[in-house]
Amino acid sequence: MDTGWHSKVHYFLRLFSKVVGDTDLLMAYFSGEMRGIYFIMGVAGSGKTTIGAALAQQLGLSFIDADDEHPAENIEKMKAGIPLTDEDRVPWLQKVRSRAISASSQNGVVIACSALKQVYRNLLEENLINVHWIFLDGDWSVLHERLNSRKNHYMPASLLHSQLATLERPEKAIRINAKHSVAETVEMIIRSLQLKKERIGIVGLGVMGKALARNLGNKGWQLSLYNREVKGIEELVAQQSVNDYPELSTALPFNDIHAFVKSLGSSPYIFMMLPAGEATDHFLNLLIPLLSPGAIIIDGANAFYADTEKHQQQILGHHIHLLGCGVSGGEQGALEGPALMVSGDKKAYDKVAPLLLSMAAVNGSGNSCCAYIGKGGSGHYVKMVHNAIEYGEMQLLAEVYGIMRNGLQMEEEAIAAIFDEWQQTELHSYLLGITQQIVNTKYNHKPILSLINDKASYKGTGAWAAQEAAFLGEPAGMFATALNARYISANTRLRNWVQQYLNSHDQVVTQKNATIDIEQIKLVYTLVRIWNHHQGFALITKAAEQYGWDISLVAIADVWRAGCIIRSSLMDKLAEGFAHTNMVSAMPYCKEILASNYADLVQLVASATLSEIPIPIISEAYQSILQYKQKKLSTTLIQAQRDFFGAHGFQWEDDIEGAIQHIDWV
Ligand code: 6PG
Repeated sequence: MDTGWHSKVHYFLRLFSKVVGDTDLLMAYFSGEMRGIYFIMGVAGSGKTTIGAALAQQLGLSFIDADDEHPAENIEKMKAGIPLTDEDRVPWLQKVRSRAISASSQNGVVIACSALKQVYRNLLEENLINVHWIFLDGDWSVLHERLNSRKNHYMPASLLHSQLATLERPEKAIRINAKHSVAETVEMIIRSLQLKKERIGIVGLGVMGKALARNLGNKGWQLSLYNREVKGIEELVAQQSVNDYPELSTALPFNDIHAFVKSLGSSPYIFMMLPAGEATDHFLNLLIPLLSPGAIIIDGANAFYADTEKHQQQILGHHIHLLGCGVSGGEQGALEGPALMVSGDKKAYDKVAPLLLSMAAVNGSGNSCCAYIGKGGSGHYVKMVHNAIEYGEMQLLAEVYGIMRNGLQMEEEAIAAIFDEWQQTELHSYLLGITQQIVNTKYNHKPILSLINDKASYKGTGAWAAQEAAFLGEPAGMFATALNARYISANTRLRNWVQQYLNSHDQVVTQKNATIDIEQIKLVYTLVRIWNHHQGFALITKAAEQYGWDISLVAIADVWRAGCIIRSSLMDKLAEGFAHTNMVSAMPYCKEILASNYADLVQLVASATLSEIPIPIISEAYQSILQYKQKKLSTTLIQAQRDFFGAHGFQWEDDIEGAIQHIDWV
């Protein structure tokens, strides 16, 4: 190397930089290629220093612990438990940035730095290239425990609260939960960094597809977007999305499937967001022959689990994978963070996990609401059960509204006020929240609910769940009841006929020999929700046994704690409870409610029945609990009848061996 030449360049650079003011940056630009700068950020206790050092070693890069760069005054303040101000941080951040620049010009560098606010991060990465952010997130308890076990560090555990309050979660960072081991975390980071270099395909830019694409665009993924071209109906949809949304401005738009696949490189990863059924079948038939081995298709539709398994079989010989991915949360969820339930080949899942984890909502424990559920179509199965619980919750809310409106003759504002009150308690849920808003909504100066046609619509998932429960012999009658309530509402012909025949009046309901009060409704609402969730999780348990899926109910409840339609305070409790039992109704919290609110359930069913207020799902809950409650059921007669006409056999009650008997009845 011509050292004379080198030192002359450096001399001029120093001179030049005096004018421009940033020596380190100029030196780095001119003295060689700028290598990667990997910032590992997070609050105290997130493990950024340990993980940063391990990552640097694995990548063969230098490591800087930004905590070591604090001026003495800052350290004194922190030791005294005084939070640093933004002004305190400026010289420190500038120093860290300078060190990053010089280290990156030599070798590339990993820097552990709290960088809690966006302005700090802006300052750190100003004018730099090839910067990657890795964010170690976690809930308070994990971080606090870690901090408490740390010896000889100047940061007291009490500072954690102020750090968490200051923290502005970065949008574009690779986000990893701090609960994992160092080795696991490093592996996840490396996998994410590799995947970030790929271009991800999104197919189907309907409401959900577009929202998911925007979500990924916001997180800094490189995207190729594809939508079919149908003259006069769907024209240049991908191009339009790129034009409309700044977060998609770097995405490549396609309406030609060949060009789209080509843009994705040698092993494409494609997120498919098409209507389930025919549209998906048709598209897969076009797509599969174009894909090279190693490709992974993620089907985000509300597909029937058996169809997902059929597609997985269809691609077996092609060395490509198809993952079923239940997506919940509606349009807003898809955009801001949905809940994802994924199944299929585990290795394929691991490859695309960083993409899915980054897209998903984050729950109160800092976990991404994305889980690998199991083999085959189990992800779509779990999504189907999610929807069945959703049907149950919605029907229950409709009945509660009906009792208040028609039984108690309450005005909409008063009902909304009650729902609002409940929302501040353990009854808090997404569905209760939107119900409160709906009930409170006026349209043309009238309550909107007085103007909406009562025919309730549906797609496929509710019916599949009821069908599956019946098929597997799992008594989940709440789902069939909620579904039938929608079917009955839409059966205008029979409704008209029955109304005529039974002399119906216009929603005038009087409380005959019955008293209903708000507190009682609240207690019943609390109980029936538990029963509805009990049936959902029981169906999943049964399916897992039947289909050989190794399913974790803790993981499912954890995924359903945020992003999805059935997120609620109850789900938080269930996620904890599944660590001890697989049965919702056996959890102490639920058992207590079932026992203490049962008498109100009996009372309300009786009162509503006498007042002729339809309460199918409340009655279904009551009837099924009542049956479980009996020491002896009248089903003895069924056994006898079966034996009478078909010699199907029965057992004597006092025979512990349970030998099958048959008698000659005639
Ligand atoms: C979700 C929802 C969603 C479902 C709609 C409509 O989790 O985001 O479950 O996937 O499609 O709720 O379902 P129905 O038309 O059957 O009511």
